[in-house]
Amino acid sequence: MCGIVGYTGTENPIPILIDGLKRLEYRGYDSAGLALMNKSGEIKVFKTKGKVADLEKLIENKEWDAVAGIAHTRWATHGAPNTINAHPHVSGSGDLVLVHNGIIENYSILKEALIQKGYHFKSETDTEVLVNFIEDVKKESGKNLFESVQLALKRVVGAYAIVVMDKNFPGQMVVARKGSPLVVGIGKDGDYIIASDAAPIVSHTKTVYYLDEDELALLEPGKEMMVKTLDNKLVTPSLTELDLTIEQLEKEGFEHFMLKEIYEQPRSVYDSMRGRINAEKKQIKLGGIESYENHILESDRIIMVGCGTSWHAGLVGEYLFEELARIPVETEYGSEFRYRNPIIKPRDVVIGISQSGETADTLAALRLAKEKGALLLGICNVVGSSIARETHAGVYTHAGPEIGVASTKAFTAQVTVLTLMALRLGYLKGTIPQERYENLLQELENVPDKIEQVLQKDLIIQQVAREYKNAKNFLYLGRGINFPVALEGALKLKEISYIHAEGYPAAEMKHGPIALIDENMPVVVIATKKGNYDKIVSNIMEIKARDGKIIAIVTEGDQQVAGLADHVIEIPESDEMLTPLLATIPLQLLAYHIAVMLGRDVDKPRNLAKSVTVE
Ligand code: AGP
Ligand code: GLU
Repeated sequence: MCGIVGYTGTENPIPILIDGLKRLEYRGYDSAGLALMNKSGEIKVFKTKGKVADLEKLIENKEWDAVAGIAHTRWATHGAPNTINAHPHVSGSGDLVLVHNGIIENYSILKEALIQKGYHFKSETDTEVLVNFIEDVKKESGKNLFESVQLALKRVVGAYAIVVMDKNFPGQMVVARKGSPLVVGIGKDGDYIIASDAAPIVSHTKTVYYLDEDELALLEPGKEMMVKTLDNKLVTPSLTELDLTIEQLEKEGFEHFMLKEIYEQPRSVYDSMRGRINAEKKQIKLGGIESYENHILESDRIIMVGCGTSWHAGLVGEYLFEELARIPVETEYGSEFRYRNPIIKPRDVVIGISQSGETADTLAALRLAKEKGALLLGICNVVGSSIARETHAGVYTHAGPEIGVASTKAFTAQVTVLTLMALRLGYLKGTIPQERYENLLQELENVPDKIEQVLQKDLIIQQVAREYKNAKNFLYLGRGINFPVALEGALKLKEISYIHAEGYPAAEMKHGPIALIDENMPVVVIATKKGNYDKIVSNIMEIKARDGKIIAIVTEGDQQVAGLADHVIEIPESDEMLTPLLATIPLQLLAYHIAVMLGRDVDKPRNLAKSVTVE
């Protein structure tokens, strides 16, 4: 959470920084700020509570001959989301200015020591402590900025991506990272643009360096970048060419990124299969994990780790792997896994699932599993992200950039990749009858078209949204592989509409939640033909007997549930194992339309951030 941008070079930094912040706003939008420096080393700071648009208004017509600038969009961890706590933060002497993404865990000890030495603090943030701590180390050691940052960070506990400027060296920037991402874009004219991800960089340059853990870089326009580790080892940076276009980042005429991303799913699901299925030879090829296939087949169990929507994808994966490859699977929240002394053996395979590849809870769980000797695989969307780099091998989802805070196309892409993996392993292990395997491959290839058909139900879904938008609670029910889909549907509604919603395995309803059902309770039931259909019908009868309102997701042509439910949304018939890819779509649209009708900020729901890089 928090997005940072920096620019040093010959162009006017202001539009570059503002545009960059807009692209990073998904990471947090509590406050925004920027600091500019001119060639005489004067610093000007502008910051405000609220969004980047508010900052833009604040600096309107404020032309200045700046040679460098740093900017920040905040998701508050330490201190309220107000203007004082907004970044950039300036050191006591006014020499240093810094933006930070992360948490300095030992900030209170450092702050106490600095107060003893006469430092004063204006904000409640850990970041202001950091900038003053660097200043103090610099004064005491007499070293230059780079070396002082290096010395200071060695004594810092926590996570950070930082960009620092020193008024005594206009144009120079020091950047560093540990736990939070940072990318350096290297411009053709010797200028540098730094950001939390590649999105702000792509329109300036495609040549980037993804800073590694515990690395610092010194950037000066016209000079080659110098990269060192915290332990002062010189690093030869291996540069990457970005495979991302600016068009991929725009809304393309949709009202919200979320809607665009929902509608992109026929393509994104196709992209996550593209080149991986050879229909003629009836083969699946997952290049990223090919050399580990035997290791996986010989493993005792697989543990899927993720958070939020990615955890739901892991749960779907559990059903897929157990059904198709007969490998025992456990799915864990990254945050819980790490703190309960889990039993992990070298013959375990841990799969980290993450859209951003930066989620701190998931990353920490993976690191723990690595220490215990497990094989780590990643399923990430963001290429070059921390999880993608720290796992032994992995499969990218190729869903393209997901900007809406509520995850949609990343989920279906994760489920697609998990389906491919389960099918591949089942094939190698001989646990899927050949006929079913071939049918599943064929059906999987048809999923993008079927998603297209589900998207055509949008008008019906809008009517349902209109009818229930004022409900205070929603229940989502599903069984088997569609139970996680019910959880995902409830999460989507909660996070963007702020309506309380819960997902449950349909049969569990009678063990408690049934007490909630009355004529005001809409219940969304995934009741597709295959997969415990009769049992689901009984559950629907139980809801109906208590006057609950039933919104059913059914298989095309279904008569029985249609006769019982208040509303039905049809999805095309498919193998039960593939229904999550279809049943999810109407739930995304339902949440989206309700949120829009309630006037919510769909792409940037309150209190949330797209990428949660703190624990
Ligand atoms: C999804 O809609 C949420 N915003 C959230 O639960 C998200 O899935 C979670 O934070 C995990 O993110 P990741 O996939 O980037 O690791
Ligand atoms: N800890 C810093 C703050 O509260 C940065 C927050 C973050 O990166 O999420 O301002």
